[in-house]
Amino acid sequence: MSEASAAPDNDDLSPPLSSLSSTTFNDVASLRAAAAAAASSKKDSDKKGEKLDPNSSSALKSVASKRTKTSKNPNLQKTITSSKKNNRWDSFDYTQHWYPVVWDCDVLPNQPTKVTLFDVDYVIAKNSQTGEWTALEDQCPHKAAALSEGRLTSSGYFQCAYHGWSFDGTTGDCVQIPQAAAGATSFPPNSCARPIPIREHQTMVWLWPGPMRASAGDYPDPPTVPEMDFPGWKVLRVVRDFDQVDWTLLASNIMDPDHGLFAHGALPFDWYSGSAKHPLKITEESFDNAGWTLSSQVPAVDKVLAVDRSKRQAMGLKVKEKKQTEDIQGTSRFIAPTTTTLCRRDVNDETSSVTAFWVTPVGTGRSRFMSAALFKSGKIPLTIPRWVMTINLNRFLDQDTLLVATQQPPLLRAEAEGVEEPRASLYSYGSATDKTVRLIDQFWDSTLFKVPNRAKTLQNLYRSGQLQRTPPREVVLDRKVQHLDICPDAQGFVKKCHIISRTSLAIAATWVVKALWDRVIPKRTRWLPILSLALAWITDQLRNQYYFVKTEASRNKDLNQTPKKVWLDP
Ligand code: FES
Ligand SMILES: [Fe+2]
Repeated sequence: MSEASAAPDNDDLSPPLSSLSSTTFNDVASLRAAAAAAASSKKDSDKKGEKLDPNSSSALKSVASKRTKTSKNPNLQKTITSSKKNNRWDSFDYTQHWYPVVWDCDVLPNQPTKVTLFDVDYVIAKNSQTGEWTALEDQCPHKAAALSEGRLTSSGYFQCAYHGWSFDGTTGDCVQIPQAAAGATSFPPNSCARPIPIREHQTMVWLWPGPMRASAGDYPDPPTVPEMDFPGWKVLRVVRDFDQVDWTLLASNIMDPDHGLFAHGALPFDWYSGSAKHPLKITEESFDNAGWTLSSQVPAVDKVLAVDRSKRQAMGLKVKEKKQTEDIQGTSRFIAPTTTTLCRRDVNDETSSVTAFWVTPVGTGRSRFMSAALFKSGKIPLTIPRWVMTINLNRFLDQDTLLVATQQPPLLRAEAEGVEEPRASLYSYGSATDKTVRLIDQFWDSTLFKVPNRAKTLQNLYRSGQLQRTPPREVVLDRKVQHLDICPDAQGFVKKCHIISRTSLAIAATWVVKALWDRVIPKRTRWLPILSLALAWITDQLRNQYYFVKTEASRNKDLNQTPKKVWLDP
């Protein structure tokens, strides 16, 4: 493991223009030349500090030049695959990492479950007798039906539901063809399914998309979040699928605390942000010639909120003073390409709670979000049911999802059209915190051409017109698809809510009918219909939380909070 120097100079991070492939076409070359010229002018203005003033003439020119950089490119796939070479992340290989695909508790034992990684579907299963996990590509070698539609046999083999062929989940070998000659035990090589390495680690299931190695010990370990294994710590797990949010956008969003005050109205985000007075201390590490981690530390005190407070004070408004110590550090850590942790640490590097995030690269323009709230159990002695955590986070995740989904069309269009460094080209990194965000975006811009299947699916999305606009909010924020459909706990909870609600209504109705029939209101049970109706209403409300609720009116309500809570209007 080698440690790079702290706070690297961003201008050193761009790869040389000579790295452009000679196989690109003329229009792509001119497009890149324009992009490079604009990027260079942007760097110059950054050096002069002009980037902080969005109204300056050079900033406006920069915006204008950015617009010239996105033009139609008929050679999308070539553009992506030939982009970005000879850079500092040259050795980063996406196929040589473990990827979390699902919480183990969300996979029912002995039941094939579909997961997706880099636009390829896999079927995974846990054998309840042996405790062993197995995984195959979710495509039957017979006639390409999805194996995830089948079952696990009593011997632990995947059996295709179509014609009943069975496969060993460890080797992919076909072990039975019901229609073959009686007693046949060996079958031709093209009847084998494709296995993929699978591992359970820290209560998550991980897949390795690279080639199989000789033995289990030949793989590195998946990234570890130490607090997950601390005795006496509690773990609350969340999962959500985003079909309109690219995994790179989601990962960058998590490492971008500046958005928390405005998108969520959540004040603690300010503790992880940087400012001129409190610059971020950035540390990079690379390991095994392939991994990359980025940590940032900053005093966990108000920054934007401190400015807001002084504005309010200057206007004679009532302001609550806050005592804060600079000894506590807001610490963010990104382990490329999937894992992020956020926590506040004291001078002894201790913390009592951590929020961990894992972003699964489901495919181009898609992601799976897994998160865990980790805390010392003394803080909250009770075990919090999972549905409480889910409902609590739903509104918060909706706030992010729509905004990040609106980032997607321009970004992926730029990537598809071969714009050099699409993120650096599209975005204006104007805040102190953006130093971290920019580094992560540079990592994406420099390595995404190596992501399995990305060029092909990007090309398909582009040509199908799906990158033209963000789908309607009812689609982007459909909690049923994002969570209910993939979480057995949520399905059980919603079912219970439905039963309680209907039973309560039936009890209330029966009471009313009986009272009408008898023409008497029974005094001793007068509370019953009221309680039943209240219970029906509450369980209906809880159940509704698993479906689309974040309407424009709800968004407007959030926006109205900003001047009251977060930032006074100029
Ligand atoms: S397609 Fe799977 S057995 Fe025929
Ligand atoms: Fe957020």
